[in-house]
Amino acid sequence: MALQIDAVTLFPQMFAAVSECGISGRAFARGHAELQLWNPRDFTADNHRTTDDRPYGGGPGMVMLAEPLAAALDAAQQRQQQKGVARPHRIYLSPQGRPLDHARVMRLAEQPGLILLAGRYEGVDQRLLDEYIDETISIGDYVLSGGELAAMVVIDAIIRQLPGVLGDAGSAQQDSFVNGLLDYPHYTRPEVYRGVTVPSVLTGGNHALIQRWRLQQSLLLTRKHRPDLLAKRGMSAAETHLLAECRQDNQPD
Ligand code: ADE
Repeated sequence: MALQIDAVTLFPQMFAAVSECGISGRAFARGHAELQLWNPRDFTADNHRTTDDRPYGGGPGMVMLAEPLAAALDAAQQRQQQKGVARPHRIYLSPQGRPLDHARVMRLAEQPGLILLAGRYEGVDQRLLDEYIDETISIGDYVLSGGELAAMVVIDAIIRQLPGVLGDAGSAQQDSFVNGLLDYPHYTRPEVYRGVTVPSVLTGGNHALIQRWRLQQSLLLTRKHRPDLLAKRGMSAAETHLLAECRQDNQPD
């Protein structure tokens, strides 16, 4: 059954980036997932179609009103129920959330339905979050102008994990992070580009050696850029040996 996704956002047009383009766009077109967008502005009752107001207690910026968001989320939930999803998982995107990682993406990909709430301004009235939100997710330690890009990151990362979405069946299994390491470097034609030749092991045809070189490169790159990942994952004796045999001056950037 298609993964049901609803997103509540003041800028539904932004979502064309995932709904119409690339792998995620094709997945929607082929029915692996369905996306419905809800604009809280369409659920306002006043002439100005107000969706935000000044914060109680003072301070900079504006806060999104609970009522229009609640009405939009109710509509989203109703649609999910009509599609057979009794209890969609409701996510708020915010830098205050738990950081997104591969393990989280895989868990989310098992859900039958997701509702994503993208905030703008300083945030959303806490009472609305307490009432509706199951989980708050951050995509990194920086502040975006709104949750839309973060919601699209979540959608894209999940969709590529749905069965049948990637043409090459093995391709999602070979992504970075699946084995807890960063990906190895890739090369394609021409064999010599501006005087730089593809590493000879990749054109030598020895698949065991190629596999060994790729693992070695993954280990080197992970140690250099993400030592935290390597510490969390640990290394086998063979991997430790692979790393140790590398000369310091022959490492990927
Ligand atoms: N909204 C604004 N910044 C964000 C972030 N880093 N992650 C998720 N949602 C956000």
